[in-house]
Amino acid sequence: MASKKIDRSLTLELARVTERAAVAAAKLIGRGDEKAADQAAVDAMRRELNALNIDGEVVIGEGERDEAPMLYIGEKVGTGDGPKVDIALDPLEGTTLTAKGMGNALAVVAMAEGGSLLNAPDVYMDKIAIGGGYPANTVDLDADPADNVKAVAKAKGVDVGLVNVCILDRPRHAEMIGKVREAGARVTLISDGDIAGVIHCTDPSTGIDMYMGTGGAPEGVLAAAALRCTGGQMQGRLVTTDEGQKERARKMGIEDFDRKYTAEEMASGDVVLSATGVTTGSMLTGIVQQGNEIWTDTLLMRSSTGTIRWIKARHTDPDKFHLND
Ligand code: FBP
Repeated sequence: MASKKIDRSLTLELARVTERAAVAAAKLIGRGDEKAADQAAVDAMRRELNALNIDGEVVIGEGERDEAPMLYIGEKVGTGDGPKVDIALDPLEGTTLTAKGMGNALAVVAMAEGGSLLNAPDVYMDKIAIGGGYPANTVDLDADPADNVKAVAKAKGVDVGLVNVCILDRPRHAEMIGKVREAGARVTLISDGDIAGVIHCTDPSTGIDMYMGTGGAPEGVLAAAALRCTGGQMQGRLVTTDEGQKERARKMGIEDFDRKYTAEEMASGDVVLSATGVTTGSMLTGIVQQGNEIWTDTLLMRSSTGTIRWIKARHTDPDKFHLND
């Protein structure tokens, strides 16, 4: 496909979208209400996306048309007056983290040239990811976890004891965690938020070398979009456990349920991604209020240039930026 690069100025507009979603969600931090936090982020993100001069279609969204009132897969966003783009979004990645006042919740959106993002239903995805600078195919989704960590150790030229694998803390991962530890590697468990888990592999300062495990497919596509910008390798395979899920996947054009997708296949065109911290985590500072000022911390990345921006912003307009209703 001939690449139609996302306009540079639209990249910066995307930061505004996640800033506003994150501030909206932040009103609900620690209030024990996951749904309300998510809804607040969805409303704000939708409003901001609809103000952009794009002819956008949500391909990774808050659910499928019948089940999600807003930002559903297939929803058109933007003024319609602009480039045709695919939108992948997770207005609040870490609804539980937000409701419980725990770290690492984010507002995330990716924008890509039209038709270039994998359209995936909201099912699980098996994932494996490593950062940049490794030879191609260093790890494989179908290899034993022990072999994968040893391969990373060899490629890095370090003892396997220095390889650190990020895994979602779920009972379904008990065997995988056991195998990684048995191989001599370390495991960093996270309670939620595997988009950040994958991105962590690309940043040596996090101390995380790999991500492994099963999480949401929408989060998988968003993580792939991020890796396209930061560099790194990823493989993902949809987990469809019943005919209903397969039918939903078929409706999105997926026929081969065993297919292993690379990051380049999940996000094949020019893509930009913005993530703003809702609660402070290892990647971003959460929303902070100081007097009448609201501070946001955003990571903005673009695949065509590989530029990554960390945008700290101070917002003083009380009508738009406040944490009380
Ligand atoms: P939500 O913000 O939608 O709750 O997702 C959080 C998350 O941890 C994702 O990062 C991850 O992909 C998924 O949930 C894992 O699903 P589950 O909680 O069912 O194991």
